[in-house]
Amino acid sequence: MLAVAVLAAGKGTRMKSDLPKVLQPLAGATLVERVLSSCAGLAPQRRLLIVGHQADRVRTTLEGAGGLEFVLQQPQLGTGHAVQQLLAPLAGFEGDLLVLNGDVPLLRPETLEQLLSRHRASGAAVTLLTARLADPTGYGRVMANAAGEVSAIVEHRDCNDEQRRVDLINAGIYCFNWAKLAAVLPDLTTDNDQGELYLTDTVALLSPAMHVQVADADEINGINDRLQLAQCEAVLQQRLREHWMREGVSFIDPGSCTLSEGTRLGRDVVVEPQCHFRGNTVVGEGCRIGPGCLLDSATIGDRVEIVHSVVREATVASGCAIGPFAQLRPGTVLESDCRVGNFVEIKNSNIGTGSKVNHLSYIGDADLGTGVNVGAGTITANYDGVRKHRTVIGSGSKTGANSVLVAPITLGEGVTVGAGSTLTKDVPSGSLALGRARQLVRDNWQGPS
Ligand code: UD1
Ligand code: CA
Repeated sequence: MLAVAVLAAGKGTRMKSDLPKVLQPLAGATLVERVLSSCAGLAPQRRLLIVGHQADRVRTTLEGAGGLEFVLQQPQLGTGHAVQQLLAPLAGFEGDLLVLNGDVPLLRPETLEQLLSRHRASGAAVTLLTARLADPTGYGRVMANAAGEVSAIVEHRDCNDEQRRVDLINAGIYCFNWAKLAAVLPDLTTDNDQGELYLTDTVALLSPAMHVQVADADEINGINDRLQLAQCEAVLQQRLREHWMREGVSFIDPGSCTLSEGTRLGRDVVVEPQCHFRGNTVVGEGCRIGPGCLLDSATIGDRVEIVHSVVREATVASGCAIGPFAQLRPGTVLESDCRVGNFVEIKNSNIGTGSKVNHLSYIGDADLGTGVNVGAGTITANYDGVRKHRTVIGSGSKTGANSVLVAPITLGEGVTVGAGSTLTKDVPSGSLALGRARQLVRDNWQGPS
């Protein structure tokens, strides 16, 4: 039997943030979500999350996760005190308890599997993850012998000079025999620099205590401040870029681009410099993205080109070309082979196959048929100050430069709108619509002098 407990009750003082530390985001997922997903593969029987500081906020964020037991630690008197809160909910539990600090987000699932199997094979009372760091500042130092047996963990601030030179650090990830841990948890004392109950002190009370050293020290980065948050972000971004390069994506300047975990990129996609992919963005095969794009939960087909543009919660079918300097806002759907040019904003609209919106337009709440040509500067006036209304433009229609279509309005198929028109009434198929003052020319006119 396996139970997993994640410690997520701390305030994260060193973060200097209104957001609880475990809710800080990394590549689009919070720290605690990352910790939880790193142990999902172990299929534990119980998953407990210890919450305290802004407990409701943490709980609300994770409500969707399912199968989580929230345990309240109030007040927060240290990591040992946090685990003491499990004595009641885990009373009578037989098996192992994996304890994870909620601020160690880069752990690989395989590392946890290895920790668990080593722990079970050795029959130790506790097995903890360690690493050797060139700069161990801030971490608890692990006092261990050559056989991997641990006698104690001493927190950085409680170390004497000799102990401080030890470069073997505690990652904050432990596998305990629960019954043995439960027996010593009540014996913890606050006899340390912070006056807290330390989980790390249980190690000296348990035997045998063993450690497993991770090969890649990046995995066990603990996050206490914004510097460490940024360092972890860099590690994650590098992992994500390498993953997609191995899947057949070219990055011209990888270091200038960022990806979310939920992003999917097709084969032969070329990502130019300064592109950012957020949310659940999906890009099809053979696309060229960038330079300078932000794609947030966008769905992009095959062979699409996007330059210097923002695409958010919009769907772009194959063969479209977008930008430079276009913005596709939520609810935009471009069917295949559309062209959206510079300084064009489209929102909550359907643009039919092969249509073109090439220059300086706002298209909002509109439905365009196929092969529509939207002239430069065409605006759909969709808002009457209270409500939004739809504009419909039939297939094969053309709007002249600087047209204003005041919604609700329907233009049939094959309609031509004269340049500079402001239209407020529907236009039947096949007709020309003009809605502008007739041009007046006075010959030899002399202005007032
Ligand atoms: C802890 C370890 C240290 C280790 C380091 C690894 C202790 C005493 N020290 O130090 O040996 O090297 O992690 O990153 O455990 N938390 C609670 N309730 C509390 C206090 C903390 O739930 O009362 C949670 C925090 O939200 C956090 C985790 O426990 O997720 C670790 O707490 P933190 O204060 O960051 O411990 P460190 O000082 O980093
Ligand atoms: Ca920490």
